[in-house]
Amino acid sequence: MLDLLKQRRSTRKYKDKPIEKKKLEKLLKAILLAPSSMNKKPLEFIVIEDKETIKKLSSCKKIGTLGLDTAPMAIAIIANTDVSDVWIEDASVAATILSLQAEALGLGSCWIQVRNRESENEKSETKVKNLLNIPDEFGVLALFSIGYKDESKNSYNDSNLDCSKIHFNKF
Ligand SMILES: Cc1cc2nc3c(=O)[nH]c(=O)nc-3n(C[C@H](O)[C@H](O)[C@H](O)COP(=O)(O)O)c2cc1C
Repeated sequence: MLDLLKQRRSTRKYKDKPIEKKKLEKLLKAILLAPSSMNKKPLEFIVIEDKETIKKLSSCKKIGTLGLDTAPMAIAIIANTDVSDVWIEDASVAATILSLQAEALGLGSCWIQVRNRESENEKSETKVKNLLNIPDEFGVLALFSIGYKDESKNSYNDSNLDCSKIHFNKF
């Protein structure tokens, strides 16, 4: 687990290579295994493989969508906000699992924040909801770009860890 956590980096450039069905199945199983508060399971996921739609999604923010240009796949992490008052936490857990499972499968990914972000003329969430036909009662946490990496980044090592952030017993 620690090796996987050190290896995982955000990927913003992808090869023009589709993700195999078997790998996609594993990714989807992983996110469906994400725990949720009171086991309410408010999350739903939209897998987007249509290149045109993926490109259109990059207009949901002014900056920070790099990667959607080249990604063969994106996944939107959404939640029914009527079902749970802590859907953001639930969705963040699934997002973290998604990024680690992608890495474990030899794929890269990047979290593209949607909630609380703005496009040129409207909320990013509104734009994504319109593009993907998401019902009103859903919140959109993030989009993930996913695919085979076309850039290399150094893994983290122990020298990158800021141990001053850890407190024992008191702050
Ligand atoms: C909550 C959250 C939101 C993020 N939003 C974006 C984003 O909108 N666009 C982007 O390119 N990266 C985004 N990232 C990725 C971070 O920029 C990245 O994780 C951080 O710079 C550390 O780099 P690393 O992932 O390679 O370790 C986000 C990450 C998190 C955890």
